[in-house]
Amino acid sequence: MSKPKFDTIQYLDRNESQYGPTPKVYEYLKNVQIGDVAWYSRDFARGVKSKLSERIAADYGFKETQIILSYGSEDILKQIIHRYLSRGEKVLIPREAWWYYKKVAYEVGGFNVEYPMIKGKLDGVDSFLYDVDKMIKIYERERPRIVIIASPNNPTGNMISREDLGKFLDVCRGAIVMIDEAYWGFGSTDNSYIKPYLDEYPNLIICRTFSKYFALAGARVGFSFAGNNLEELKGFTTRYLGYNLISENLAMIALDDVDYYQKVTGMMQEDKEYFYKEFSSLPGFKAYKSYANFMLVDMPRDIRKGLDKFLKERNMLIKFLEEEAFKTETRITLGTREQNYYLIECIREFLKQ
Ligand SMILES: Cc1ncc(COP(=O)(O)O)c(C=O)c1O
Repeated sequence: MSKPKFDTIQYLDRNESQYGPTPKVYEYLKNVQIGDVAWYSRDFARGVKSKLSERIAADYGFKETQIILSYGSEDILKQIIHRYLSRGEKVLIPREAWWYYKKVAYEVGGFNVEYPMIKGKLDGVDSFLYDVDKMIKIYERERPRIVIIASPNNPTGNMISREDLGKFLDVCRGAIVMIDEAYWGFGSTDNSYIKPYLDEYPNLIICRTFSKYFALAGARVGFSFAGNNLEELKGFTTRYLGYNLISENLAMIALDDVDYYQKVTGMMQEDKEYFYKEFSSLPGFKAYKSYANFMLVDMPRDIRKGLDKFLKERNMLIKFLEEEAFKTETRITLGTREQNYYLIECIREFLKQ
């Protein structure tokens, strides 16, 4: 075996950024001041939760009270469920979903009902798609208290179209609808729908995070746009002594460096094109359209074990999914160009054996 290209494990299995955040983040960290670590926030005295919620509200044209802050979007999801779901009530989630959706309802004695995605083509590329008519049927049958839509969805990578989303939201006005946009930014940076949707659907909450696009997963910062009916949630999530001042400052620095993130996303987009091309030329492989920082790839079932071992020996980790909905799919987090090219080189070498 030739010497692995990387001496340490390359984690292309967790949907974390391999490029990291804007370098300005590290500059700030080198110069942290006493007020950032030893003192509480003074923002509450001004009638706002934080500089960050104030900034986001101004950027999107909301009142500050409509912006919720959280320790990542995992945290807000948990708080929504814990605040609104009672024992025996249902959460409607995608069948092909992030594992945590499947777990959280049980924390409060609730349970899940699932809606399936379908497979099709988008712009000529294989894609998972939301099946809105099916979702409406299941919603009407099950009457869940909470509905979760992920766009882009993990691990399938697809987004729900604006038209389908509007059609669905019109039907489920009686439920609380959470749109998890953790992977916002990689496929589209459009924000024009946010304010009109929140105005139209007062039970809607759109959740975002600094973990993915802004590459600050370790800083644990999430934010949400909350509809006008969700007053109790706004109170429930407010922390009067403030949040994590360092993390908030990192988030603000990230928001200001639009050019850095556009550049990184551009490189990732080129690498997605490279992956589509490479995987479509390998027998039995199929890469699904991705609007995220990862790509779902179908591959022959009988090579999974061997390929996993082969890649691990070369310090490359990708995620071989082992769930009910995925028996042959693998989720690959987009790495740097060097990591991505090496991954394909390894897969080709494995297939030649
Ligand atoms: C769909 C989805 N939502 C939310 C999260 C949680 O992100 P965070 O808590 O870091 O914001 C993840 C993490 O991988 C995810 O895949």
